[in-house]
Amino acid sequence: MLDNIKQLMTEIGNFSSTDPALIEEFRIKHLSKKGTIAALFEDFKNVPVEQKKAIGQSLNQLKETALNKVNELKEAAQNVTTEQSGIDLTLPGDPEQLGSRHPLSIVRNEILSIFDRLGFVISEGPEIEDDWHNFSALNFAEEHPARDMQDTFFISKNPDILLHTHTSSTQVRDMESYDLPIRVVTPGRVFRNEAISARAHCIFHQIEALYIDENVSFADLKQTLSYFAKEFFGQDTEVRLRPSFFPFTEPSAEMDVTCSLCKGKGCNVCKHTGWLEIMGCGMVHPNVLELNGIDKNKYSGFALGMGIERITMLKYGVRDLRLFFENDIRFLQQFTAAI
Ligand code: DAH
Repeated sequence: MLDNIKQLMTEIGNFSSTDPALIEEFRIKHLSKKGTIAALFEDFKNVPVEQKKAIGQSLNQLKETALNKVNELKEAAQNVTTEQSGIDLTLPGDPEQLGSRHPLSIVRNEILSIFDRLGFVISEGPEIEDDWHNFSALNFAEEHPARDMQDTFFISKNPDILLHTHTSSTQVRDMESYDLPIRVVTPGRVFRNEAISARAHCIFHQIEALYIDENVSFADLKQTLSYFAKEFFGQDTEVRLRPSFFPFTEPSAEMDVTCSLCKGKGCNVCKHTGWLEIMGCGMVHPNVLELNGIDKNKYSGFALGMGIERITMLKYGVRDLRLFFENDIRFLQQFTAAI
């Protein structure tokens, strides 16, 4: 038996490989339950008592040597060098290119979530519209300049099909499809025939809100505006309304907030007025209610609309609107999404 042990000892001592499959084969041959060493331990039971000590010691030594050998070889196999494996393990890995959320999407989601908290549901309308939904049903006079080819991208004339110039067109679709009361907020991409510059683009984004119910008053509008401004720009933000004109609201107003950058003291961004113009709003014109089949004596409502690019520029201090459309990853990655 000692001869057997000696022979195996030499075999095990001489074995070498960096191939994990061969190392595993070696382990099974010698160290598994049916392996050579287990068989020797089985024979060991029959060894005469006076030889047990010497043979037992050699046997344990053999087992230990085999175990160490397997561990050593396994470790060495993991550290196989470039030359041996043919793969350069020192090369840097391929980085995963992660995208980031577009700043306009971040701001849009933030605005939508504020209106969501006020109970407004999201509705979206088509970008290609007819004259009725974009203009006529919103009380635009026949000769209103916005209907001009200069401002609107027409797809066809007579019948007039166009790219909607504002998200207000979705108000009309909402009045058609929802039962009263209506409380909707509408994000959308809009189109106007404007020269592209740092402050204007022919494609931009708006968010519109519309609320129609019995007894909706200007006070409700003001409260909504104030809540929105404080949630979005900070609790110390103040709001002011200036009289304005839109064909679809009466009275109409323009909402300003105290400049969030200089806190109302006056800076470049607010042109030293301390105020920033944020959105148009007003009480839904009775003509609009009537044109859309809503009883103007029973119902009233308010509407508001804002440009997402403008608000994003103000929020992040972006000075050129064209950056939003270039999609330069270095620009986009500066905005981290809170949502
Ligand atoms: N549609 C207007 C625009 O594009 C913005 C607007 C003003 C929307 C007043 C409204 C509103 O709902 O009440 O300039």
